[in-house]
Amino acid sequence: MKNNKLLISLLSLPLLATPFVAIADDDNVPPIKSLIVLEECGACHLAFQPAFLPKASWQKMMGELENHFGEDASLDADSITEIEDYLVANASRQKFRGDKAPQRITELRWFKKEHNDSEVRFMENKYKVKSLVDCAACHQGAEMGIYDDD
Ligand code: HEC
Ligand code: HEC
Repeated sequence: MKNNKLLISLLSLPLLATPFVAIADDDNVPPIKSLIVLEECGACHLAFQPAFLPKASWQKMMGELENHFGEDASLDADSITEIEDYLVANASRQKFRGDKAPQRITELRWFKKEHNDSEVRFMENKYKVKSLVDCAACHQGAEMGIYDDD
């Protein structure tokens, strides 16, 4: 009894304690735990997990929300600070200079490689997916950060 309990707490430890070292093509990424990020950044599309882009990308994006991929996604200053802090704290570790920081996950090299085969084309047709930006159309666990489910 006692031993079982210890085993369980030992097993669950790494999940809680390991700081996430993001390698962008990891199968899975940690889910978003910030309510404001889920709400504000999940209003028009899936709230993309911060581990998919480096710090400089999020900083650049949060600085130009009034022109966000052709949409106005602007927010008040306090919300911007809170959201940016969360995204930056949970970003991937690649380094880019501000002006070179990628703004699209779908244009990262690993993403294009993973999504350039017949299985993806098959799913696009089957689920009538208009754009690869719609992660959840194919990855049922996308909101939870689970992408190795297919
Ligand atoms: C008003 C609607 C709207 C809101 C709110 C919004 N976005 Fe977007 N976002 C878009 C549109 C439109 C695109 C481009 C989609 C496409 O190309 O199909 C986009 C694209 C993106 C992409 C690039 C997707 C890719 O890999 O191609 C990221 C990253 C992103 N948004 C992050 C955010 C974050 C972070 C927030 C919260 C601060 C946010 N978005 C809030 C409309 C919105
Ligand atoms: C049209 C369906 C489709 C869409 C949309 C899609 N994916 Fe995928 N994705 C796949 C398939 C299929 C694979 C597995 C690739 C393979 O090995 O054939 C994959 C692989 C991945 C992987 C690697 C998982 C692993 O097991 O190595 C990640 C991470 C991922 N996708 C993230 C995303 C994200 C983030 C988005 C949205 C920005 C997205 N995908 C949109 C179909 C899709």
